[in-house]
Amino acid sequence: MASFVGSFAASHGPLIARDWLTMPAHRREHFTTTFRELGRRFTETRPDLLIEIAPDHWSNFFLDNLPSICIGVGEEHEGPPEPFLKDFPHQHLAGHPGFGMHLLETALASDFEPSRSHHLTLDHGFCIPLMRMELAQLPPIVPIAINGIEPPFMSIRRCLAWGRLLRQAIETYPGKLRVAVLATGGLSHSIGEATMGAIDEKFDHDCIRLFAAGDDNALAAYLEDALPRTGNGGHEVRTWVIAHAAAGSRGFELIAYEPVPEVYVGCGYAAWQVAA
Ligand SMILES: [Fe+2]
Repeated sequence: MASFVGSFAASHGPLIARDWLTMPAHRREHFTTTFRELGRRFTETRPDLLIEIAPDHWSNFFLDNLPSICIGVGEEHEGPPEPFLKDFPHQHLAGHPGFGMHLLETALASDFEPSRSHHLTLDHGFCIPLMRMELAQLPPIVPIAINGIEPPFMSIRRCLAWGRLLRQAIETYPGKLRVAVLATGGLSHSIGEATMGAIDEKFDHDCIRLFAAGDDNALAAYLEDALPRTGNGGHEVRTWVIAHAAAGSRGFELIAYEPVPEVYVGCGYAAWQVAA
């Protein structure tokens, strides 16, 4: 059987790549050090498979067809379409159709109805953390794209249920695989709205406290109340909720948090690691 080896989470603001050479040096050092530590911890779990959860930024879906959640079941995924990611170091993004279909079947058998795609494009949301974590090589990826951009959204309760379902799918997969989960997005940011650029540090610290405490009811109640009042990018924290529940809601370890106005994002990084 497959085994769950840990969940990880990181922010993915596009300017972490686009403005890499022009941002102040101390910011570049912060990103380098922190993503490198995340990559070190990820590599330490020796994953054979990565389930990566990120919001789609109109790269795969638009208003004519906008699933709340879509599982990438393809043999291979398309690389990032953004011109500022032309130097993305991983030319080949292998999928894992066996696990992808198992996850899809497990979901449908449990009364979840995700969308599926045999050809997903992995945009900056998926690729910036993979690039900045300095991974020598990528394991096969089963991507899960969620709607974090256009309301209405999946409830936080449903995100928790999705996380538990991921764990169930991992533990029932009939193959010897070490499976890691990586969530990307958040924490607070505000894009293309009146509060553009605002970082809500109170929201970020509240999230960190609640993820660390591991009380799902308190986490869900807080997020349902607070998300409509913070910047629109905060909705991406749903990916963290899924990773949190996949790890058994056991409380996470914060690797770093820093509000970075140059990239418009309250940048957070975390690990829910299990013993190797
Ligand atoms: Fe995003």
